[in-house]
Amino acid sequence: MSPLVLAIETSCDETAAAVLHGHRLLSSSISSQTLIHREFGGVVPEVASRNHLSKIEALVNQAVESANVSVQQIDCVAATRGPGLLTSLLVGYSFGKGLAIGLNKPFLGINHIEAHLLSPFFKTEFDPVRSIGLVVSGGHTLLVLVEGVGKYRVLGGTVDDAAGEAFDKVAKLLGLPYPGGPQIDALAPRGDPNRYGLPRSMVGRQDYNFSFSGIKTAVRYLLPKLAGDYVADVAASFQEAVVDILVRKTMAAAAEFGVNLITVSGGVSGNSRLRQKMAQAVEKAGKHLLLAEPALTTDNAAMIGYVAMQRVREGTGTDLTVDADPNLRLVNA
Ligand code: KG4
Ligand code: ZN
Repeated sequence: MSPLVLAIETSCDETAAAVLHGHRLLSSSISSQTLIHREFGGVVPEVASRNHLSKIEALVNQAVESANVSVQQIDCVAATRGPGLLTSLLVGYSFGKGLAIGLNKPFLGINHIEAHLLSPFFKTEFDPVRSIGLVVSGGHTLLVLVEGVGKYRVLGGTVDDAAGEAFDKVAKLLGLPYPGGPQIDALAPRGDPNRYGLPRSMVGRQDYNFSFSGIKTAVRYLLPKLAGDYVADVAASFQEAVVDILVRKTMAAAAEFGVNLITVSGGVSGNSRLRQKMAQAVEKAGKHLLLAEPALTTDNAAMIGYVAMQRVREGTGTDLTVDADPNLRLVNA
């Protein structure tokens, strides 16, 4: 019998709950705080935490009701343990623990990066297999050699801004609202991606680390020199530089480690140019690409439940004395 898992995600500014029966997603509810944080130009931790607190109970009830199950039927409760904003994490993590104790069911603390990393496999009939995973979100940029569930080798990451953070900061420079990633994605097709040559930081190096703050600084110095209608051209040129770096590093890793499957996940994996250019590069190399479904690219609880499901099968649970960890890392196995 497949277990019924209730998963909760509150690591940043999305309050989310989902119910899974085995690999089947029964419900997924998300309440986004984007419009609340937009007036501040970014996520304000204290505001995020208070909003999670006011939403969490109704959202969990909504997820359980839409799954057409009763809370007593839940076999296991999972919640994001980290990384993320501590005061946000604590809301979902504590709520999940309390619910698990009340129901006398096991509790699982899940790594948010692992959830993004494995999310492309959610729609497949097979379990996570050997692959190169690119995780690109507002908080993380990571290249990982995946050997299976729980078997990860982090090949590299960003040394400064995350890819999504760079999108958001450049969008802000261009006067676009938060979060800027989708705004740049929408504007870029109207611009010329080759109009401004922006740096492709660290692509010439033999490692798998990334740097995006140099591109952002280049945009900052470029803007005062421009006049007229330049926003779409800058958006397109910036996006092209970031996508170029992401695709080149990912393909280099796939070649070096002889891996045929490439996955891309996290909020930035929703970017249409990245999806397109990665698909072209993967096809040219004769490899396969697995992208997270659009609904699973930005923060959601379904991906948390998917990892929890893998853990339930291994029979592992989380000790209730283990705390949420804002700096939780993806450990090399
Ligand atoms: O995965 P996510 O929801 O949160 C984190 O775990 O950080 O990612 C949010 C990030 C934001 O920086 C947002 O601007 C970016 O993903 N993003 C995009 C797109 N959609 C979301 N960036 C570029 N193009 C998009 N279409
Ligand atoms: Zn995320």
